[in-house]
Amino acid sequence: MIDQFRKIIVSLLKEKTDLIEDEIDKCIEIPPDSKMGDYAFPCFSLSKTLKKPPNKIASELAEQISPVNPINEIKAIGPYLNFFLDKKIFSEVVLKKISNETDLYGSDAIGTDKTVVIDYSSPNIAKHLAVHHLRSALIGNALYNIYKELGYKCVGINHLGDWGTQFGQLIVAYRKWGEKNLEKYTITDLNKLYVKFHQEAEKDIHLEDEAREWFKKLENGDGEAIALWKRFKDISLLEFQRVYKMLGIQFDAFVGESFYNTMVDDTVLRIQKKGLSCISEQALIIDLERYNMPPCLLRKKDDTTLYATRDIAAAEYRSAEYHFDKMIYVVGSEQKLHFNQVFKVLELMGYDWANNCVHVDFGLMKFKEGRMSTRKGMVVLLEDLLIEAVERIKKIIEEKNPSLKDKEIVANDVGIGAVIFADLSTKRNKDVIFDWDTVLNFEGETGPYVQYTHARLCSILRKYGKAVTSNIDFALLKEDDAINLIKVLWQYPFVLLKSAQFYEPSLISNYLIDVCAKVNKFYNSHRVLSEDDDLTKARILMVNAARQIIKNGLKILGMHAPTEM
Ligand code: ARG
Repeated sequence: MIDQFRKIIVSLLKEKTDLIEDEIDKCIEIPPDSKMGDYAFPCFSLSKTLKKPPNKIASELAEQISPVNPINEIKAIGPYLNFFLDKKIFSEVVLKKISNETDLYGSDAIGTDKTVVIDYSSPNIAKHLAVHHLRSALIGNALYNIYKELGYKCVGINHLGDWGTQFGQLIVAYRKWGEKNLEKYTITDLNKLYVKFHQEAEKDIHLEDEAREWFKKLENGDGEAIALWKRFKDISLLEFQRVYKMLGIQFDAFVGESFYNTMVDDTVLRIQKKGLSCISEQALIIDLERYNMPPCLLRKKDDTTLYATRDIAAAEYRSAEYHFDKMIYVVGSEQKLHFNQVFKVLELMGYDWANNCVHVDFGLMKFKEGRMSTRKGMVVLLEDLLIEAVERIKKIIEEKNPSLKDKEIVANDVGIGAVIFADLSTKRNKDVIFDWDTVLNFEGETGPYVQYTHARLCSILRKYGKAVTSNIDFALLKEDDAINLIKVLWQYPFVLLKSAQFYEPSLISNYLIDVCAKVNKFYNSHRVLSEDDDLTKARILMVNAARQIIKNGLKILGMHAPTEM
């Protein structure tokens, strides 16, 4: 969507400066305080080319440019040229647009005919979903929703870690110490086998060899190996799906690393033919020293492939299958080197689309007490975390609003939403510090706060009880609190675009906090429902628009918006 107000300002400035539209557009800012105007153009960069102080340029431009509708006033304030909109026209445009487009407000067509592949969550089978798989799932899911809203065709892929030497280890452990009845197995049981394997392998060096043999058998399609591996995978998927269902997250495809087993040979052959690889210590590698990276390992000395080999094959496959315009890997920062290597290899293989691959990395999620760990014994299972969030919210509802209808559903929406929001409101490359009291606080910058604000607005609309109309006198929305709210509502589509550009869902969560703060500020200092019918009608239209934006934004983040709490 194009900001029509901004566009007018850009064209006015273009006439009086030597700058091109794009340059002007990039410079224009929205002053934090409306007293400084609704849009501002900083004159610093012009000052360099014109060799005049920016304050002087600003005042000269203010004299030269005469305001046109819907701009009321153009004023120089220090080095800035500030534009003041006609509030009545502005409010009318914004509120009518939101009320016409409802759920579609924010959607765009810039992605039409373009495909984005998103690789997210991608846990390893036979292990519990780890916290970084949760972060990846939530960020990936939000990016999926964002790009979809912008018109892109999205393909969400769960690149399961279902291949590698560890499955040889698991097979050996199961055959030696496992209970025969695999039917009853859970991931916890599989985990125990891993632990046992590593304990025993310290005493018996042959076990590792045996494990490698079994993985080799697996790569060669041995019946027994395949049957066991399949079962391990099914057991794992059962738990993964349970968690994804709780989170409301879906994938278009669960295509794990094993899927590329039949393709890796050809991939390696192509790499060899290009003369990119060499043998080092009996392994096949690609030397990346020239690019300041350690070598990329393609085959171990026993001929088995590696994580990177399968990622290269997967990228080739996805390019052929989806002809993507962009491929996004949502994976923790600790794999930065891995993706740099993979992207470099793809580039060296001659694929121009290698440039369209992006590693969207993110920081850790830490508990206030320290890093959540599956190794140190302080195991926090994701499923338990989500269940606990719901239980805690249930308790709060029982205390505060015991007569609420659909208590279970609301507790679920708010509990799960609290975890999602906590994750997505932190800038993705920062660590998330998870602390129950903060995450569930209805008055903090949290999911429950945003959902509660939404429910509160719904309750005002229920009290109003009549249909919302945009046939109102827009001049009645004149208080600063009203204008500030309408201004922030107008920004929603642009925040969405920006969050796609920077792969940053936190821009949306923080934006929603801003909307909530502004609508609450209005609500706390002005009466929405009063005896003055016209005023009520106008304020109701604005409240309804705020409700709509909160709902749209929450949906993008993957959260529900309960209408009562
Ligand atoms: N399974 C990997 C892990 O748990 C993440 C996979 C990410 N996706 C990829 N295409 N490498 O660390």
